[in-house]
Amino acid sequence: MTDAAPVPLGRFITFEGGDGAGKTTQAARLEEWLQTVGRTVVRTREPGGTELGGRIREMVLHERGHIAPRAEALLYAADRAHHVETLVRPALDRGDVVVQDRYIDSSVAYQGAARGLGADHIRSVSDWAADGLVPDLTVLLDLDVAVGRARVAAARGVFDRLEAEASTFHETVRQSFLGMAGAEPDRFLVVDATAVPDDIADRIRTRVGVLLGVAA
Ligand code: TMP
Repeated sequence: MTDAAPVPLGRFITFEGGDGAGKTTQAARLEEWLQTVGRTVVRTREPGGTELGGRIREMVLHERGHIAPRAEALLYAADRAHHVETLVRPALDRGDVVVQDRYIDSSVAYQGAARGLGADHIRSVSDWAADGLVPDLTVLLDLDVAVGRARVAAARGVFDRLEAEASTFHETVRQSFLGMAGAEPDRFLVVDATAVPDDIADRIRTRVGVLLGVAA
């Protein structure tokens, strides 16, 4: 028998929302706080959280020609399958907290709803790809589409393949995310992304604190 401290439970936290909602900023702030409470954090993203995924990301976001919608859906699913098996699951098994930009809900919103491939089909393909891994918490940063696009334009000036889609596409994405959050209130925390970043970070910390059993 040894007196080694018990390995903490791995936790899987995802950030979702439209472009320009501030997912990356808030994920970084959450990572910093988690480290101050002594947790080991793996911060990652889809698509592109692995080396192979980086090449898939380049294809789906920057391919110049047409990509058939089903092929696009399968590219995201392939990225996810490799990412979950080689990076996310091993981290959770070690007891780390995985903080991730985008996951299956993005596929459901973008490919299932906005591309019209069907939410149920896309969720089942993604669930299979991820071997059933479900986040413990999903933070949805909700933002008016026009505001999000203006933020991206101001920050980068250029849109990638998905960002370049029409406003109606992005409005469908937004409504799909809100629909999923309404259907799974225990998994989702919905935050108004126009709030002050410090207040958003506070709300997220409070909820994650409850999940991890630590004071925020
Ligand atoms: P981002 O990393 O800048 O958020 O860009 C990823 C883009 O890919 C974004 O426009 C959303 C889109 N996307 C999908 O369409 N389906 C997916 O499954 C994922 C993970 C992202």
